[in-house]
Amino acid sequence: MDNTLLQDPNAEQAAYWNGRVGQRWTNRQDFMDAVLAPISSAVLDRAAAAPGEHVIDIGCGCGATSLELAQRVGPSGRVLGVDISQPMLARARQRTPQGAQLAFEITDATIYPFAAGETDLLFSRFGVMFFAQPVQSFANLRTALRPGGRLVFVCWREPRLNPWLVLPVQAAYQHVPKLPEMSPEDPGPFSFATPDRVRRILDAAGFGAVTMEPRDFTLDLANGQGLDAALENALEIGPASRALDGQPAELQLAAQHAIRAALAAQQVGQSVPLGAAVWMVSASNGV
Ligand SMILES: C[S@@+](CC[C@H](N)C(=O)[O-])C[C@H]1O[C@@H](n2cnc3c(N)ncnc32)[C@H](O)[C@@H]1O
Repeated sequence: MDNTLLQDPNAEQAAYWNGRVGQRWTNRQDFMDAVLAPISSAVLDRAAAAPGEHVIDIGCGCGATSLELAQRVGPSGRVLGVDISQPMLARARQRTPQGAQLAFEITDATIYPFAAGETDLLFSRFGVMFFAQPVQSFANLRTALRPGGRLVFVCWREPRLNPWLVLPVQAAYQHVPKLPEMSPEDPGPFSFATPDRVRRILDAAGFGAVTMEPRDFTLDLANGQGLDAALENALEIGPASRALDGQPAELQLAAQHAIRAALAAQQVGQSVPLGAAVWMVSASNGV
């Protein structure tokens, strides 16, 4: 990654998403896209990208939503996916059909010099909660929006409302130490769980008409492929994988058994359906 496009406070996140975690997301791209599909459809419908529109997909990762957005804006529109993760963006580029009106930039969205005022829609599926200085990041993103342009993203609500993410790690805690407590201001998956904080950030970045709609989903952690698939996913993505990283082999094994038992208790046929809770956030530029 070009270091001139990396804002220092986000260096830790850049290392995180370019290391083992980014590689795991890349390896599991198909599976994760299938698990997250119900949320994707809902946020894409909410964003209502129309033919001819210019869109930026923030923290686009392996590009699932960028590809969907490109289909929606059609040949007269344009989509730019931005992300700090080299492996994830390489996967996004690999998936892009020839001739699609879709480009990707490896960059920190906080400081990327977006073309001013040309974008109709700033969009994100879980890619905006990792900024160390979110007001600065959103203010920079807003420079890309035309007057009256819109921001639409989805982010997680509190951990206790998201068993699909926390049930495995809670089971793991029977055997491995707890992950360090995060402050509500620390970048991370739950950093936008509190509506007051999100509104404060978006207000300070100059957005108006902020709305936050709570939505509940059931996600199949097994993606219809049985208990082993759900276990494998929990061990690769999310807080359980982080809690097990670097632990002695016997503790990892014991934690894996505990996670398996917790997931088995939720199993229905070949699925492991678990609750997920998000905010659908929208805002506008200057209204
Ligand atoms: C949870 S992943 C979501 C990826 C993708 N939107 C999806 O739903 O599959 C978060 C993404 O945000 C990206 N990200 C984190 N901080 C960023 C920053 N400052 N600028 C651009 N992307 C960033 C990460 O590299 C990662 O791809």
